[in-house]
Formats: sequence, structure tokens, C-alpha cells
Amino acid sequence: MAKQIKIFDTTLRDGEQSPGCSMNLNEKIQMAKQIEKMKVDVIEAGFAIASKGDFESVSEIARNIKEARVASLSRALKKDIDCAWDAVKHARLPRIHTFIATSDIHMKYKLKMKPEDVMAQAVEMVKYAKAYCEDIEFSAEDATRSDKEFLYRIITKVIDAGATVVNIPDTVGYTTPEEYFNLITGIRENVPNIHKADISVHCHNDLGMAVANTLAAARAGATQLECTINGIGERAGNAALEEVAMALNTRKDIYGAVCNIDTTQIMRSSSLLTSITGVKVQPNKAIVGANAFAHESGIHQHGMLQEQSTYEIMTPESIGLNKNKMVLGKHSGRHAFEDKLRDMGYELTKEELEKAFEKFKTLADKKKTIFDKDIEAIIAEDFATEVS
Ligand code: KIV
Ligand code: ZN
Repeated sequence: MAKQIKIFDTTLRDGEQSPGCSMNLNEKIQMAKQIEKMKVDVIEAGFAIASKGDFESVSEIARNIKEARVASLSRALKKDIDCAWDAVKHARLPRIHTFIATSDIHMKYKLKMKPEDVMAQAVEMVKYAKAYCEDIEFSAEDATRSDKEFLYRIITKVIDAGATVVNIPDTVGYTTPEEYFNLITGIRENVPNIHKADISVHCHNDLGMAVANTLAAARAGATQLECTINGIGERAGNAALEEVAMALNTRKDIYGAVCNIDTTQIMRSSSLLTSITGVKVQPNKAIVGANAFAHESGIHQHGMLQEQSTYEIMTPESIGLNKNKMVLGKHSGRHAFEDKLRDMGYELTKEELEKAFEKFKTLADKKKTIFDKDIEAIIAEDFATEVS
């Protein structure tokens, strides 16, 4: 049986940290409800102590969301944990997500703490949070640049202290699929109590490998994947939820895992985020880009008209789009043109079709994309009997 993987959405926390992506309270609630419709397992609603606005959003999302678990981020500090709990306590399924850095670079320069003190603080704060809430996620920030033995020890101890999820973030997008696979495998083999917690992964996209790294970790046994809609997030962003979910679904043969995501809500979620933030998705972005299901080449269009699977590994309907988009341009062939005419309601004789196709080709040489109104103009110039 395929193993179940949980999806943790951090669009409203790590995603919102992306330049230009901040949202007000109402927008966050609207977004959270749409994310819930997508059937994610966990919604990270914000970082409660970061601001008054963040606190309010986490509380309101906690009150409004009923199916998904709701988490608030907190540093491994008492005041952060108090505040996170105050905000998420209204949730039907609350989680406190606490973190501290574990890499030598972060411990030395950012925290200015000794590794053993970091370890003690992590354990103490997980215990402190556990007094409030059953579900505690612990993140070892900058895990991929941390000493492995230290990582194994701190994970073992926080699980003993009550952590139900241990997150292994690639905070600076530094790792590679092979290395991350080995890191997760190493944790499974060297942390004796690891079976008591979910292993979560959280990847940034600085080297363009966030999704590949996330999927490599899933293959190595990670049971929770952290992502954001449209891949928004700090710097180059986070692993894109839609890409992770569609890869798991499309390549079950490789990942042997399923997630709960209702993929037909993907397009709606992506568009809502774009309209709220005004941050556009690049046209060639996998899954949700404007061209992701568009076919321009004549050979491709012909193949698609015979059998969709010739050039489509997933259907547009599976992400909530109505139809693949045949974009007519200079590479389009007669079959695609004829199909387009039929779709638009025109029925031409063979001769009329030939003549119209010639005109279309001449126009396509001058113009990048041919729109419906261009075709209407070609047809209007001559013949055509409209199909009723
Ligand atoms: O990237 C990161 O390390 C984070 C943690 C706070 C989970 O966002
Ligand atoms: Zn992050």
C-alpha cells in the first residue's frame, strides 16, 4: 500500500516573508480557507510574536479553520511560545512550531551560543511548549549545514522531550537531492526514537532544487513536506506545493506515496494568491504557469488531437483547469487550426479551410500569438457558415 505523506503549507508564514507578498488579515483568512479546501494537513498561519497583525491573523485563522491543523511559528524562547499558544489555542487542531539553529555558522555568529547550550535550550523549550499543546514541531534551523552527529543527538533529545514532528530545514537552499536523501536516511538510521515522530522537510530554492530536494527526502522516508503555493518564500522561495503534489501523484511509481491534496483546487489557489499579492507567476512555471498546458508546435498539437497523452503527462482538469490551451502561432499545423475553428463554431469546406489556413499562416509569420479575434477576422473576410 502507498504510504501517506502529510503536506504542511507555509504560504502564510514563510511565503508571506517573500518581498511583495504580505497580506492583510482578511486576505490571509481568505487564503487560509482556500488552502483548507485543497486539503492540506497543516496550515502554518504565521509567526505570532512577529507583530500585532501576525498575532491577530494566527488567532483568526485558528478560529476559522476546522479541518486542517493550524500552527504558529516561535523561536525556542518562552515569550515566543506563550504568544504562539495564545494565538493557536483557538484551533480545533493546534500546533506549536518552535525552532533554533543547529549549524556551527548560525550558533557561533547568530546565536552566539555553544552547541551544548543550544541543545539544552531546545529540549527545555520543547518541554515548555508541550505543557500547552500535544502537537509540537521542532525545527533544527540550517540543518543541512549542521554537524550530523550533533543533529542526531538534538533530534533524539527533543523527541524524548515531546516533539511530535522534527523538521530538517534546508534553510539556505544549499543541499542537493543526493545529499538530502542521505541526510534523511542517516537520521532514520541513527536516531533511535525517530519512529515516535514525523520527519518533516522544508526546502528553499536558492539553487533551484527545492522541489527536487523535497521529493528526494520523501523517497528517503520523510513523512511531512513543507511547501508554499506558487513556491513563494524567502529569497528564491520555498518548494512549490503544486509541483510537489503533482509529482507525487504523477510518479507514484517512483515515490510510492500519496498525499491528501485535492489537486483540482491547485489552479484556484494559485490564482487567488496572485490576485491577492499582485505577484505574478512566470508563464513557463511548472503546473500553474500560463504555458504549462499550452501547446504551440504543430507536431505537438497534431499529436494532442489524436491522443492527449502524447504530449501531456497530466491533464489540465487534474489541477482545476478546464482544457489544455492550444496556442495558435506560426508553428501550428492544419489540424490544430481546423480544431480551433470547430471549437469557435465555424464549419468550412475543404477549399475554404485551405484558403483560411494560408491567410492564418501569413498572419502568424507577422504576429507572435494568434487570438480568437484574429481568426474571426480571417473568417469574416470570406465565407463561413456558422454551426448553430
Ligand atoms: O527555512 C527555515 O529554516 C525556516 C524555519 C523557521 C523552519 O523557515
Ligand atoms: Zn524557511
